[in-house]
Amino acid sequence: MEGDTADEFLAEFKDRRLGFWGIAQITAGTGLAVYAMWVGILQPGFRRVPLRLQVPYLPASKTQVRNVMTLLRGRKGALVDLGSGDGRIVLEAHRQGFSPTIGYELNPWLVRLARYHAWRAGHPQDVSYRQEDLWKVDLTKCKNVTVFLAPSVLPLLQEKLQTELPDDALVVAGRFPFTEWTACHVEGQGVDRAWAYSMQAQRLKACKAQG
Ligand SMILES: C[S@@+](CC[C@H](N)C(=O)[O-])C[C@H]1O[C@@H](n2cnc3c(N)ncnc32)[C@H](O)[C@@H]1O
Repeated sequence: MEGDTADEFLAEFKDRRLGFWGIAQITAGTGLAVYAMWVGILQPGFRRVPLRLQVPYLPASKTQVRNVMTLLRGRKGALVDLGSGDGRIVLEAHRQGFSPTIGYELNPWLVRLARYHAWRAGHPQDVSYRQEDLWKVDLTKCKNVTVFLAPSVLPLLQEKLQTELPDDALVVAGRFPFTEWTACHVEGQGVDRAWAYSMQAQRLKACKAQG
């Protein structure tokens, strides 16, 4: 008897057409779920950041991380990743011998996730993830900087880096280049490509351009 009822219900469900309101409800429900995820999981921490400077989370691919590390070969000392996401660049930089390695990330969920990854990898004390706005971080003592941000914010970041970084700093950008700078080395292809910029070379170029 119960089986019959279930079969009847299934048959009726299969026969039923969704119709305009059905589709509208599903679309609205999906939109609401995506919005809730955006606000609740991806957006916290960004309320004080102007909309034009908000960059969504997108993790670097394994090849991209490898290309970034290749460009950093031969360097040592401290390294910072601006917008560190789940912390993969910072963790890999630590494995490659950089110390201290620090990631600045506004999203508290990603900071927690990065700390969890570090703990799982057995390096909870060796890397540091700070929930801070990268635009407010003092970079005057940073010699190795990695970034993977949106092209729209790179011109502004370029100004900050050029003003604050010491001459012997190296900046490595993943996926999107600084269009007004000239890279000293480029590694990889397509979306995994990474660019290395010597601060000294950018300043010399800027001086020559000014005459
Ligand atoms: C494209 S993801 C890159 C993540 C990571 N660096 C990687 O390569 O996998 C950019 C990250 O920057 C973070 N972010 C964006 N604006 C920020 C800000 N003003 N301060 C700190 N982090 C920021 C985002 O939350 C996001 O996790």
